[in-house]
Amino acid sequence: MKKRLAIRGDLLDFTAEPGWGETESAAVRFRPDHWLLIEDGRIAAVQAQAPGADWPRADHAGRLVLPGFVDTHVHSPQLDVIGSYGSELLDWLNTYTFPAERRYADAAVAQQGAALFLDALLAHGTTAAVVFPTVHKVSADALFAAAAERGMRLIAGKVLMDRHAPDGLRDDVVQAEADCRELIARWHGRERLAYAVTVRFAPTSTPAQLAMAGRLCAEDATLYMQTHVAENRDEVRWVRELFPEARSYLDVYARAGLLHGRSVLAHGIWLDDTDRAVLRAAGAQIAHSPSSNLFLGSGLFGWREAEAAGAAVTLASDVGGGTSLSMLRTMADAYKVQAMAHQRLTAWKALHAATRGAARALALEHEIGSLEAGRMADLCVWDWAAGPVAERRMEVARGLHEKVFAWLTLGDERCLVAAYVNGVQRHRR
Ligand code: GUN
Ligand code: ZN
Repeated sequence: MKKRLAIRGDLLDFTAEPGWGETESAAVRFRPDHWLLIEDGRIAAVQAQAPGADWPRADHAGRLVLPGFVDTHVHSPQLDVIGSYGSELLDWLNTYTFPAERRYADAAVAQQGAALFLDALLAHGTTAAVVFPTVHKVSADALFAAAAERGMRLIAGKVLMDRHAPDGLRDDVVQAEADCRELIARWHGRERLAYAVTVRFAPTSTPAQLAMAGRLCAEDATLYMQTHVAENRDEVRWVRELFPEARSYLDVYARAGLLHGRSVLAHGIWLDDTDRAVLRAAGAQIAHSPSSNLFLGSGLFGWREAEAAGAAVTLASDVGGGTSLSMLRTMADAYKVQAMAHQRLTAWKALHAATRGAARALALEHEIGSLEAGRMADLCVWDWAAGPVAERRMEVARGLHEKVFAWLTLGDERCLVAAYVNGVQRHRR
């Protein structure tokens, strides 16, 4: 007997990538008052008519149903330092982040932290993520195990850092390679988990460690790679000093063989045209993290330039540099960052980047990111408004784009009613 569930609501997703400035877009698929039928964790059908009496129902008529959000760059141990006052990247890492990450050497701390983090993602409507735990193997084990328990799609890997980090947070090339290989064997491709070779950033890895990371990627094209690039001007200057032979910060990774179709690079604010062409040729993506970029004063990302050059752009919270796990808040911040560059980010472009666009950039389009038969039933049910201001705004909104744009600008996790992973309700308000 198949496990069934029928969810009723206003279904919103995308069939293609919306263009810049298009508030009316053929890529948007809005199916108001439809039923989404789930069988054994997958979407079986979407239909206007109610299913037969043999279908258990979750009737969310009048509510929005979206694919679960994909956060393409977030740090699980940094919930402990979210909202820390007053510094830019390098100082922030030393003052707040590294001390917090050191605690994850303890398996019990890592397990508790992983559970809290993943439940928090779900409570914000994020059902899939690309995650940095810490340098400690136990932190990656704890995160993968907790994701497996929840049936979540998760991409992660032990952080590599063998220099310029305090005691208790450094590995070395030999041990790191052994740990990576062990973790890959244990988790990569198991259930909905995938391993990412995780270089923290160029300054905290020796050339020998970067080369080792590149070899791992070369050996198995199904591995992901995640890192940070060109986030902060002092950081960029430091990388230039550390790697004088490289043409640019991005080139450090290119030379090590770390750029490929499954590379996820956070930030990319201070890239040039050659870098963007390199990203395009590699098929790598930038995980744009607007909340973090504003909070740490890192700079304003040129989304339009990156995309014009053919580089894929996805959206990320980058907690704890970012100040919220909410992809609604992330999208609202992305809009404001683009507004500073006199660009207009439509609700469609933002939502696409947080769902189907991310799925495509991660080569997971067959599994997540849209409400289509055959996809895994990772989806969320949202109220259109939380509180009297948003309620009033919804009453007077005209047209779908205006309504959805106001929703993502005014909304946050208070709007989330339920989150489903594999068709199983994993969060309920
Ligand atoms: N660069 C290297 N590590 C980090 C980190 O933890 N957060 C951010 N935002 N940037 C980084
Ligand atoms: Zn980060």
